[in-house]
Amino acid sequence: MVGELLLIAQRIKNNFMVLKGKLVKLRKIKMADALRFVKWLNDKEVNKFTTRRKISLAKEKKWIREMPKHWQTDRIFAIVTISDIHIGSIGLHKIDQRDKNASYAIIIGDKNYWQKGYGTDASRLILDYGFNVLKLHRIYLRVYDYNKRAIKVYQNLGFKLEGKEREQNFYNNKFHDVFMMGLLKNEWQKARRKLR
Ligand SMILES: CC(C)(COP(=O)(O)OP(=O)(O)OC[C@H]1O[C@@H](n2cnc3c(N)ncnc32)[C@H](O)[C@@H]1OP(=O)(O)O)[C@@H](O)C(=O)NCCC(=O)NCCS
Repeated sequence: MVGELLLIAQRIKNNFMVLKGKLVKLRKIKMADALRFVKWLNDKEVNKFTTRRKISLAKEKKWIREMPKHWQTDRIFAIVTISDIHIGSIGLHKIDQRDKNASYAIIIGDKNYWQKGYGTDASRLILDYGFNVLKLHRIYLRVYDYNKRAIKVYQNLGFKLEGKEREQNFYNNKFHDVFMMGLLKNEWQKARRKLR
């Protein structure tokens, strides 16, 4: 299992990787994906859970072009279905090899694919990659308090609530807390066995 992941990691470096799960694959982000990302990130039903900001195609293309420069600290992948439909992105950010931690973020931008297990499957792949290939000890995230679906997914993955940034986020004429959640390697090993 670990040997297999190492091989995959090598392939990622050589730019022809695919991490394969039950429902999704994680592949390299391509320039041709840019327009889909822009569409999703400008969709209020999606971005109310993420940036809550508009994004331009030029900015998105620049982000994709510059991605290889940030390989040491940011590993971001396109989420595609087993039949290669691009539905979102997932990644580990701020990878810190000294303290062995990273932050994690996921967006399934295509709403047709919400709540069908795709987010859980993609997360399983990136967490295995983080803990087994990058040898991280801790992976953490931030999530808005009203994002009940994401919170449930994170709990299923074993993430624990570690703190709250009280009323950090102003959305829909109301202040909302931002939850800080974290997952240690041994907690992931336990939670992984129970995942659907
Ligand atoms: C959050 C996200 C990644 C989840 O992926 P997904 O494929 O939709 O989720 P899954 O189908 O794998 O799992 C959904 C879980 O949430 C549960 N759920 C759904 N709506 C819920 C709600 N309102 N309250 C509590 N739980 C809920 C489901 O029952 C399921 O849990 P279960 O497996 O224990 O039954 C995806 O919906 C997404 O990208 N949303 C938009 C962007 C976003 O929110 N990103 C995260 C920012 S922190």
